[in-house]
Amino acid sequence: MVVQVLSANERYKLDGSDDALFYSEPRFVQHLDGGFRGRLTQLYRERIPTCAVVLDLMSSWVSHLPDDQRYEQVIGHGLNAQELEANPRLDRHWVQNLNQLQELPLDDSSVDCTLIVAGWQYLQQPEAIAEELLRITRPNGQVIVAFSNRMFFTKAPQIWTDGADGDHLRYVAEVLMAQGWPKPELIAEETRMPGPMGWVGGKGDPFFAVIATKPVPSAATV
Ligand SMILES: C[S@@+](CC[C@H](N)C(=O)[O-])C[C@H]1O[C@@H](n2cnc3c(N)ncnc32)[C@H](O)[C@@H]1O
Repeated sequence: MVVQVLSANERYKLDGSDDALFYSEPRFVQHLDGGFRGRLTQLYRERIPTCAVVLDLMSSWVSHLPDDQRYEQVIGHGLNAQELEANPRLDRHWVQNLNQLQELPLDDSSVDCTLIVAGWQYLQQPEAIAEELLRITRPNGQVIVAFSNRMFFTKAPQIWTDGADGDHLRYVAEVLMAQGWPKPELIAEETRMPGPMGWVGGKGDPFFAVIATKPVPSAATV
């Protein structure tokens, strides 16, 4: 059963129109700068085994996975079919508005690692998504939720627009734990701008990640 964390006010967003309208035109842009993306790709290289079935939830035309790593399968999800079709990392994909329907069309214990990049901040029913992620994740599998300090303000619910970076980390962790995920690992780091500006101390988009790992059932509960 889904354990609710947010109040109705915290789910409210300024632009209440169907999210599919906002994403109806493809955006072939990078939503995060090179410093952030480099840190994210490094994290994926360290944490995701090559035999993994990967789900890139709330994806676009890029997945930020290391170019030289192959995975058993990379499944993509998003709101714009043209962006997902252009994403070279995806073996298959589907389109679904997660603020209208939270049930994911994936089998129980079928995914090793779910990635959500700059996406959690748009979820109005994050508790139901966190529960679904627990259902589809294999024991010892992970969810990696990464974000920076940017957002489409009118499309983010109040819980996100009202909070600072540390609040966002705690909020994602709280929602996951409320659905039964163990206490996640939290990462908060500065990044450097790529190139000469970074060499002289220029800062990139700050990097935040919440990493939760599904426990392996003990022998007594198998
Ligand atoms: C800022 S983009 C980030 C895309 C991608 N993860 C990346 O790193 O470039 C936000 C993404 O969240 C997803 N998204 C936003 N609202 C959504 C909704 N209501 N249902 C499903 N996906 C949504 C879309 O896939 C959209 O591309």
